[in-house]
Amino acid sequence: MLEKDIEKVIVSNEDINKIAKRLGTQLAEEYRDQFPLVVGLLKGCVPFMGTLIQNMDIPMEIDFMDVSSYHGGIESSGDIKINKDLDAQVKGRDIIIAEDIVDTGRTIKVVMDLLKYRGAKSVSVVTLLDKPAGRIVEIDPEYIGVTIPKEFVVGYGLDYDEQYRNLPYVGVLKPKVYNKE
Ligand code: PRP
Repeated sequence: MLEKDIEKVIVSNEDINKIAKRLGTQLAEEYRDQFPLVVGLLKGCVPFMGTLIQNMDIPMEIDFMDVSSYHGGIESSGDIKINKDLDAQVKGRDIIIAEDIVDTGRTIKVVMDLLKYRGAKSVSVVTLLDKPAGRIVEIDPEYIGVTIPKEFVVGYGLDYDEQYRNLPYVGVLKPKVYNKE
């Protein structure tokens, strides 16, 4: 039903599972003795973080923050707001931020700065998608699933107007969907 609005698939479900396995295995090796705190940025992180952590066979904690930057449109506004903060204490912790996409880099920059300010021992970023062509703030995620061109994508956590997050793959939306208003 949702597929009719998708022009093309960019990252298939099979590809995503391979990415989660590759990055999850790497993170598990590197954070084996660190008891990391994996921080998901809601809501887009949910599908990828869920798949990723199942591939990390080490002791860890998870927690979530809700930080908004898009406000229902397709352009990043740069206006960032913390809607839900972490429950966990971050002082002295090794933190892995899990994201669906790094675009302008603004969201990640704000969250990284905040966690460092709160005394995190280390902060790294794992993202399913990296869109370097959209970058406004200098941020280089340490763990990248796949680099994508400057196209508006939805699925596997990524939304258009809060929809399509539940697609099991990442795809490009047909322009008629966002031109119809
Ligand atoms: C999206 C996405 C990232 C951020 C990336 O979140 O999940 O967190 O934008 O964009 P940036 O690099 O330009 O900051 P959004 O604020 O739309 O919230 P959502 O996760 O609830 O969709």
